[in-house]
Amino acid sequence: MNAPDLIRRFQPAKAGAAALPAEAGVYDGPRTPTVLFLDQTGQMGGAEFALLPLAEACTARGEVVLLADGPFRARLEEHGVYVKVLSDARVSNLDREAVRLNLLSAVPGILRQIRAIAREARRFDVLFVNTQKAMVLGALGKPLHRRPVIWFLHDIMSRAHFGRVQLLVVKWLARYVVDQVVANSRASAEALSALAGIPAERIPVIPNGIDAAAFHKVDADTADDRAALRRRLGLPEDAYLAGLFGRLAPWKGQHIALQALAKLPDVHLVLVGAPLFGEHAYADGLRLQAEELGVTGRVHFAGFRDDMPAWMKAMDVILHTSIDPEPLGRVVIEGMLAGRPVIAAAAGGVLEIVQDGHNGLLTQPGDVDGIVDAIDALRLRPDVARRLARQGTIDAQRDFSLETYLSRMTQAIARAVR
Ligand code: UDP
Ligand code: GLC
Repeated sequence: MNAPDLIRRFQPAKAGAAALPAEAGVYDGPRTPTVLFLDQTGQMGGAEFALLPLAEACTARGEVVLLADGPFRARLEEHGVYVKVLSDARVSNLDREAVRLNLLSAVPGILRQIRAIAREARRFDVLFVNTQKAMVLGALGKPLHRRPVIWFLHDIMSRAHFGRVQLLVVKWLARYVVDQVVANSRASAEALSALAGIPAERIPVIPNGIDAAAFHKVDADTADDRAALRRRLGLPEDAYLAGLFGRLAPWKGQHIALQALAKLPDVHLVLVGAPLFGEHAYADGLRLQAEELGVTGRVHFAGFRDDMPAWMKAMDVILHTSIDPEPLGRVVIEGMLAGRPVIAAAAGGVLEIVQDGHNGLLTQPGDVDGIVDAIDALRLRPDVARRLARQGTIDAQRDFSLETYLSRMTQAIARAVR
């Protein structure tokens, strides 16, 4: 079966069809598999944005289980996806510290959740786990559900973000229990390969696909009038605007952008995003830092926004400042689709998106002066800025199309049950 056929077969039979047909749990031959998608959070992070169109493409034969409630549930339901929340506060709130101090008291909750997930998974042909905790709980339940487990890896599994015990558990489950890993970038695939000793060529890389139409729509709606767009968003019409998009978290490096801003007297910085996973102290610290640097009047904290294409198109330049290697970086691809020059941190999956001087500019992670110089260079040479932006859009449309992503993902799912 070719890819477009596969996608068509994953489409809902009729709009809004959400519940799974009664016979769904029985895999009885070479037909499109039914899928249970499992994700640990109700927040809208990049992994959840990646799952959204895939779950939507599979509405007729798939459901989503979330291990915590949140805005993701409503977003999925708006797209016609059937969602169930299996939350257990004791397990959802487990962080590194709690695992160390409190593992014993959490064990009954963990076991309950593994059993509940396995009960759901048994009704489907394949269990698709979209986050790390989902993978662990889904894989540990495999003796109960006996379904192939496919893991969409969105992280660079290293000590920068994960505890020693966590990495050990992931290593063994990835090696012996998970049937198929699919990675969002070569960087993520290689890190897991090094950790678990799985040959990298056995981890297919399927980068996220982004819907370019949402970006074209902004142009159509605003008739390309950037000043009007800025007025609508409450941004200064005449200033040079640098935008940084993404959740507020130390490793996303918003503090680096603020330091750069302090060295760029007439530039304004727009920070779009909110702390999604408890990083409120960091968010408060950014406001304090802005005050200390004397740049408060030139920083715009926009909070979490649903209309990223419009916010990106209102910018003169788009920054990416992660200080740890970014597993992929949807915001970098989106910035390119927005037709704005992108300055990104040269590490991780970003190196699979941006080629320095060709479709964007790269700076070393954490290099404040590098960002200052790159912004100065783009301001000095608007023709270069335009060329990079144009090439960025071409490359992003070619390499990160939604259609290719969905077709490759649905094929990977189909293969996992053979
Ligand atoms: N995003 C959004 N509104 C915001 C901030 C972020 O819709 O205010 C989206 C953004 O467009 C992107 C995703 O959140 O699609 C973040 O994904 P990325 O891969 O860049 O980073 P992650 O948070 O997953 O590490
Ligand atoms: C993760 C990563 C991000 C990636 C996203 C989608 O959240 O942090 O870099 O773009 O997943 O795969």
